[in-house]
Amino acid sequence: MKPPKVLLIGAHGRTGRLIAQRLHHESLPFRAMLRKSAHKSEFAAMGAEIVLSDLTNDFCHAFDDITHVIYAAGSAQTESVHEQRAIDRDAVMRTADYARRRRVQQLVVISALSAFDPAHSGFALRHYSRMKREADEYVAHRGVPYAILRPGPLSDEPAHGAIALADAHTEHKPEVSRADVARIAVQCVSSGIGNRMIAFVGGDESIDSVIDALRHEPIHAAPTSL
Ligand SMILES: NC(=O)c1ccc[n+]([C@@H]2O[C@H](COP(=O)([O-])OP(=O)(O)OC[C@H]3O[C@@H](n4cnc5c(N)ncnc54)[C@H](OP(=O)(O)O)[C@@H]3O)[C@@H](O)[C@H]2O)c1
Repeated sequence: MKPPKVLLIGAHGRTGRLIAQRLHHESLPFRAMLRKSAHKSEFAAMGAEIVLSDLTNDFCHAFDDITHVIYAAGSAQTESVHEQRAIDRDAVMRTADYARRRRVQQLVVISALSAFDPAHSGFALRHYSRMKREADEYVAHRGVPYAILRPGPLSDEPAHGAIALADAHTEHKPEVSRADVARIAVQCVSSGIGNRMIAFVGGDESIDSVIDALRHEPIHAAPTSL
């Protein structure tokens, strides 16, 4: 068994940076994927390896010696349907392909709660949600152990350490902090949680208990219902 090494894609994003800090805090070796060399020093200071790549290019080389992958990149809200397709769908699919080729032990993808039902998302979110949904379906069927996270609206509030599980029918969607999303993403790596889709919003169920309960549920060979 190879020693763990995490590839963090989208490391310089708001959630990505919080994931990097948690990986560092938990002494989990990681490689930060960035697109701008100006951002290197922040991650080098955490002892991370750095790989520079734009997600619209081939980034297969970033997967050398990697055991776990966290995909935290995303198109910015102001970006076009072209960017949404490229970053929220196509690059996620390529990540799953590379992960399978390299026999990665766990792929964690940050999707979105709206991926349950893109057709009923508000107009501004509809295409983005469809891209997230198509990426999720692909990941779940690619044959790599996966954890797909579907958070509701994100905030930059401090970590709460707690969430509320959600599903396709959840109507009340309190914001969940990026720090709590980061914590869940890293726990999916460190707990070896297997094939899961975890949808959540802000709430009061302790993240540790939620992850612990999921770890003890049987892992199905077939993809979880998405
Ligand atoms: N906003 C919400 O309320 C919400 C709700 C649910 C789920 N989500 C999802 O949660 C995840 C994290 O969101 P966030 O708001 O923390 O993200 P964010 O701050 O917008 O960061 C996105 C990251 O993606 C990177 N990126 C974008 N295009 C790229 C490209 N072509 N090549 C390489 N990297 C690229 C950016 O790189 P640079 O740093 O170089 O710009 C940035 O680091 C995303 O997948 C998002 O869709 C968001």
